[in-house]
Amino acid sequence: MPKGVVAIVVVLVMVVLWLVVSPPRSLLNITKSVEPTAIVGGELTEQYGCRGCHRIGGEGALKGPDLDEVVRRQIEADPAQVTLRLWLRDPRAIKSSTAMPNFHLSDSEIEAILLYLQEEAASPE
Ligand code: HEC
Repeated sequence: MPKGVVAIVVVLVMVVLWLVVSPPRSLLNITKSVEPTAIVGGELTEQYGCRGCHRIGGEGALKGPDLDEVVRRQIEADPAQVTLRLWLRDPRAIKSSTAMPNFHLSDSEIEAILLYLQEEAASPE
């Protein structure tokens, strides 16, 4: 193979790796566009296994904070949920040592999850 072709292949592989490891928000918003409803949010919480670490609607593990409490607190303190949105975009950007993985959520997925969390936090256990 000529050197030029090898160089192009190497660059392409690196670009693909970069997109997989750290996809930009603009791309996520296209590839992971969902209908932002609480029902979809519930499905996403199952899909991403949030209850493996969090209690939501009174159910789930307590390796991380109880999200019912977090959401109740945030509704008063931060009605636009800016902090939670930033956290869900990239947990390690806020706390580098956190055990919570970056799920590379799109904006509409975050919206759906927050609607679901609010619904669960509001319903009596
Ligand atoms: C591997 C365990 C794990 C999984 C899975 C996980 N989290 Fe977390 N999460 C944590 C931990 C631990 C924290 C607390 C931050 C810290 O101290 O590291 C946290 C913090 C949070 C916070 C911020 C709470 C606050 O006090 O402000 C939110 C919101 C949250 N998680 C939502 C989610 C959602 C939604 C999912 C599913 C998409 C999820 N987490 C999946 C471990 C996890």
